[in-house]
Amino acid sequence: MTDEKALENFLIDYRRKMHQHPELSTEEYQTTADIRRVLTDHGIPIVETPLKTGVVAKIKGATKGPVIALRADIDALPIVEQSGVPYASEFHGKMHACGHDFHTSVILGAAILLNQQKEKLHGTVLLIFQAAEEIAQGASKVIESGVLNDVEAIFGFHNDPSLPVGTLGTKVGELTAAVDRFEINIKGNGAHGAKPHEGVDPLVVIAQIIQAFQPIISRNLAPDSHAVLSITQVHSGETWNVIPDRAYLEGTVRNFSAENRTKVEHRIRATLEGIALANEIGIELIWHASCPSVTNDQKWTEVSLKASEEAGFATRIIKESAIGEDFAYYQEKIPGSFVMIGSGGPYELHHPKFRVDDRALFPAVKYFEALAFKVLA
Ligand code: NI
Repeated sequence: MTDEKALENFLIDYRRKMHQHPELSTEEYQTTADIRRVLTDHGIPIVETPLKTGVVAKIKGATKGPVIALRADIDALPIVEQSGVPYASEFHGKMHACGHDFHTSVILGAAILLNQQKEKLHGTVLLIFQAAEEIAQGASKVIESGVLNDVEAIFGFHNDPSLPVGTLGTKVGELTAAVDRFEINIKGNGAHGAKPHEGVDPLVVIAQIIQAFQPIISRNLAPDSHAVLSITQVHSGETWNVIPDRAYLEGTVRNFSAENRTKVEHRIRATLEGIALANEIGIELIWHASCPSVTNDQKWTEVSLKASEEAGFATRIIKESAIGEDFAYYQEKIPGSFVMIGSGGPYELHHPKFRVDDRALFPAVKYFEALAFKVLA
């Protein structure tokens, strides 16, 4: 009991220090060194990989069995912190505003507890401290490194400020959205504001595109698809009496099925082709496909719910969320389950005043400890 209290205090302290020193995606060098040091100090072997940032550790049980993986993410966001906590970021313009400091500390805690009990483990647990989640590039790099080749099940989590501390939420199937980003360049012909017939006006075309995109979701996908299409940037023009020669739009699409994802992209392309033809104007679409949906395996989600109860959580079946999470890439290769753990608000993820309740930390450690034993049972 006192050992666990000491570990909890150590992890809270670790989390606060990590919070003070946030590093952005792909730049997590000090964070990586710090995680390696804690693992090494606790006698937990590190798996050497070609990854520049991020850490993979391995706990081999006393008896042979499957290989499973527990994953945390470690990167911060380019946000000026306004949380007012005494351990606020010391690096101006960088902040752990998504709680990846919390995630790292939880998986470190689970690693320490599991390593102390490795004589009782029937198999191997890999601990993945993944870089560059915020730019949805880190998971693919871990997969490419080959370190997960033998892994049979993978588990992860995100803190959720909208859930109270002591609550764990999850669901079978799609939990987060497939994320796409699009950029549109419209190449018209400038003209005098008084002589539009001598040019090709990109502003009129912008208006048509914004209107034409609205029914792409509402008239093509079923009402329960929960898909979203948002145009988030529009730029064109300099002054009142000149028709500009170009315009730029940017936006995002969120989907919860691969089929709808393909359908929406197809409808966007067809709509733009039609508008370009009708207006005799050049329209270029640049499509950035980001991560697919986190999609939870039924069997492993049932096991995770049992571990949640064992760890003392109030367990909830939650609705899917339109956020993106690159854990989805792992689940394309390996069945697994992802959960949301209540971190007690009041500010949402990515908010400059975001903060995590320390009381949420150790129960999350106990969840992953229980989960590893149940999955390897
Ligand atoms: Ni996050």
